[in-house]
Amino acid sequence: MPHEVRGVVAKSRGAKVSIETVVVPDPGPGEALVNIQSCGVCHTDLHYREGGINDDFPFLLGHEAAGIVEEVGVGVTDVGPGDFVILNWRAVCGECRACLRGRPWYCFETHNATQKMTLQDGTELSPALGIGAFVEKTLVHAGQCTKVDPAASPAAAGLLGCGIMAGLGAAINTGAVTRGDSVAVIGCGGVGDAAIAGAALAGAAKIIAVDVDDRKLEWARGFGATDVVNSRETDPVEAVRALTGGNGADVVIEAIGRPETYEQAFYARDLAGTVVLVGVPTPDMKIELPLLDVFGRGGSLKSSWYGDCLPSRDFPMLVDLYRQGRLDLDGFVTETIGLDDVEEAFAKMHRGEVLRSVVLL
Ligand code: APR
Ligand code: ZN
Ligand code: ZN
Repeated sequence: MPHEVRGVVAKSRGAKVSIETVVVPDPGPGEALVNIQSCGVCHTDLHYREGGINDDFPFLLGHEAAGIVEEVGVGVTDVGPGDFVILNWRAVCGECRACLRGRPWYCFETHNATQKMTLQDGTELSPALGIGAFVEKTLVHAGQCTKVDPAASPAAAGLLGCGIMAGLGAAINTGAVTRGDSVAVIGCGGVGDAAIAGAALAGAAKIIAVDVDDRKLEWARGFGATDVVNSRETDPVEAVRALTGGNGADVVIEAIGRPETYEQAFYARDLAGTVVLVGVPTPDMKIELPLLDVFGRGGSLKSSWYGDCLPSRDFPMLVDLYRQGRLDLDGFVTETIGLDDVEEAFAKMHRGEVLRSVVLL
């Protein structure tokens, strides 16, 4: 019997979201039906509703979620009813060229549910990032469910499903920050603060937070920033160099996704250092750099997709660190809201008032 539940839908380009009745099929082979407990509001949800990702309206928004598995389809053995899971958008296939080379965190053929969730009139919904979790129950591929310690708060744990994992992973996976490194993070929203927390976990000796908003810089200190730079008032490249003996940071993480801040990251890095781009640019953006500087400064320029995370490896480990008090996931939850409040949460996100608004169900 299909399930009829309440969900947040973006019906057409630019239109505000609405609460609709969503019809969720019983799980088929390889699928899982999950009772959603929490789902964070992410920039990508807003991009979907603005038509910035693709035109496959209507979208079922939400993708940064945790919940309890209600039922699984045939052939599913890794998770079962009652399991507390974080949903991921990297259910690795095991067969693509990345997986076959032992690099599943790059998997190019990730799995999603085969069956579609629909509106009551049968219109198929496009779930955001193949999840769709601003809804009481959702249908995903079982590989999109990662079992973690059920003692964790759903609001905090669910954040590992997207943005916070992206920032943590930009530091610990892509940037490979290690003990004694100097790290600069440009842009201290949820993603940048997670990069700061990741750098602190990895043992960075100096962590420089750069933002244009003093309130954000204050929050960044709470996640482990040792120094802060307001780049509206101070040249961030010079400031990072001054704080690192004139050299620049070993790893600079750009968590905004803009050409001018990417250029700052490029020059705020020490010779042979690493730049990690985790902020997501828009199609119109271009960068121009002297090729001689690209060569002459050496090191590596990397991008971090979803923090290069492997959910089965990273989610349980990070939840354990959270439970031990070593990773402040609760600090990212600025407010908890209801399904009806998503549109207002987009506005707060836009105004820079929150690290994360989290829908509780
Ligand atoms: N220089 C420094 N900081 C800036 C600048 C700038 N030119 N412009 C914006 N910022 C700061 C903002 O003040 C804010 O603190 O960058 C931060 C961006 O944070 P959020 O808007 O909360 O975004 P977040 O959720 O952290 O995501 C950052 O990563 O996943 C992507 O799509 C996401 O591109 C976005 C980025
Ligand atoms: Zn694969
Ligand atoms: Zn997201």
